[in-house]
Amino acid sequence: MKRSKIVELLNSNDFDVEVCVKGWVRTRRGSRNVAFIALNDGSTINNIQIVVDLANFSEEFLKPITTGACICVVGLLKESQGQGQSSEIQASKIEIYGIADPAVYPLQKKGHTLEFLREIAYLRPRTNTFGAVFRLRHHLAFAIHEYFNKLGFFYFHTPIITGSDAEGAGSMFQVTTIDVGNPPLTEDGKIDYSQDFFGHSTNLTVSGQLEGELGAMALGGIYTFGPTFRAENSNTPRHLAEFWMIEPEVAFNDINDNMDLAEDFLKYVISYALENGRDDIEFLNKMYDNELIDRLNFVLDNKFVRLTYTEGIEILEKSGKKFEFPVYWGVDLQSEHERYLVEEHFRRPVILTDYPKDIKAFYMKQNDDGKTVRGMDVLFPKIGEIIGGSEREADYQKLLTRMQEMNMSVDSLWWYLDTRKFGTAPHAGFGLGFERLALFVTGMQNIRDVIPFPRTPKNAEF
Ligand code: 4AD
Ligand code: MG
Repeated sequence: MKRSKIVELLNSNDFDVEVCVKGWVRTRRGSRNVAFIALNDGSTINNIQIVVDLANFSEEFLKPITTGACICVVGLLKESQGQGQSSEIQASKIEIYGIADPAVYPLQKKGHTLEFLREIAYLRPRTNTFGAVFRLRHHLAFAIHEYFNKLGFFYFHTPIITGSDAEGAGSMFQVTTIDVGNPPLTEDGKIDYSQDFFGHSTNLTVSGQLEGELGAMALGGIYTFGPTFRAENSNTPRHLAEFWMIEPEVAFNDINDNMDLAEDFLKYVISYALENGRDDIEFLNKMYDNELIDRLNFVLDNKFVRLTYTEGIEILEKSGKKFEFPVYWGVDLQSEHERYLVEEHFRRPVILTDYPKDIKAFYMKQNDDGKTVRGMDVLFPKIGEIIGGSEREADYQKLLTRMQEMNMSVDSLWWYLDTRKFGTAPHAGFGLGFERLALFVTGMQNIRDVIPFPRTPKNAEF
C-alpha cells in the first residue's frame, strides 16, 4: 500500500479510508484497552496519533514499540476526538521496521540540553527542535533560489578548490595529495608543490566572490550558493569553519543598488520562511525565544537604517557605553558595537557603509577621500553582521596598486585583474552567511545548532 506523509493526513478530511504511514515513535502510552502511539515521519513537526485497540494487538507485540522505534502502520483515518488534533489512525496492521532499545537509545528521554544534543549530532535531527531547524533551513534555501530566479539571476557554480589565496578573508584549509609525512622537497628545502595533484598548492575556498565576478561580467547578474571554509580559530556562537554562503554579483550595480538588493532579498526570504515554515517557527518561538516571531515581523516592517561607518563610530563614541573593545575611527567593529547600534540605538537593522580601507578587502571600490572604501555590512539584531559586501573597484590601475600596497600575490590573481582590462564595468555584490540567516530565523543562540553537522575547531566527527 502506498505510504502517505503525516503532514498530508493531518490536513486531510477524507475520513474512514484506509491509509498507510511510516515513521518513528515519539511516545507510546495507554490504558488497559487501548494504546496511543505518537508517530512522526519528519514531514511536519506534528505527530499523528495511532490508536491501537488491545483487542487486536497483544501487549507482547507492542512492547518493542518504544520511543525511537520505526514502524509502519495501516489503518482507517478517523476524525480525532482528542483536543488539538485533526485526525488519527485506527491501526489494523503494524509492522516493526526497527527497534530502539530504551536501555541504550540516547533520545529515550525528552528535555536534553542543546549541548548534549551537539554531542549526538548524528541523532539530533530526530528531535522536534532540530526537525524544525532543518526544515526551516530547507525553506530558506529554496526561497533564496526562488528569489534570484524571479529576478533573472543565474546560479553560477564557483569552485570549492582554489589556486588563489582569495581575499585574505582568514586562514585557509590546504588541499593536497602530498604525503605530509614525507613531502617531496625542492633544492632549497621547501615543499615541492609542482609534484602536488594540481601542480601547485591549493586550498578550500573562503568565498566564491572572485570567480562570481567573472560570471557577472558575462551573465550580468549571478549568485553563488555553496560551502565556504575558514580555518580561523574562532570559537564563537557565530563562526563555523565550514559554512554556506550566498553571493550575488551584479554588473552595473553601485553600492546603493547593492543595499537595495540586500534589504529586499533578506525581507523576501524571511517572509517566505514565516509563511512556509509557520508550524516550526511557532514551535521555536514557544520553546526557545518568545520574541522570535515579533523580531521577524519587525525586520519585515521596518526600513533598514543606512549610515556611514564614520557616523556609526560617532554614535558609539557618544553613547557613554562601556564596551569590552574600545571604539575609535579605524577600528574593526566587534559584534558588541554592531549590536549596540542595532538593538539599542536605532532599534532596527542597520547598513553601515564606507569603511576605512585598511580593515576591508582589496577589491572594494576606493572613495575619493583616499581613506574609505565603498563596502557595506548589514547588521541584524541578535546576530551583528549578517551580510558583508561592496561595490567593486573597477579600475585596473587602482586595483593593482591596492593589491601591491597590501603585499598580495598579484601573480596568482592575474585572471581577476584581467577582468578590469577587458571590458571592465562598475559592479557590486555581497555575501550572506546562510547559517547567520538561519540563526536569525530560528531564534537559536548558537550557530552549531543550525547546521546538521557543524565543523568547528576540534570538531568534525560526524
Ligand atoms: O564578510 P565576509 O567575509 O565577505 C565575503 O566573504 C565577501 N567575499 C562577500 C562578497 O562580497 N561577495 O563574509 C560574508 C558573510 C558574513 O557577513 C557572515 O554572515 C558570513 O559570511 N560569515 C560566516 N558565517 C559563519 N561562520 C564564519 N566563520 C563566517 N565568516 C563569515
Ligand atoms: Mg565581513
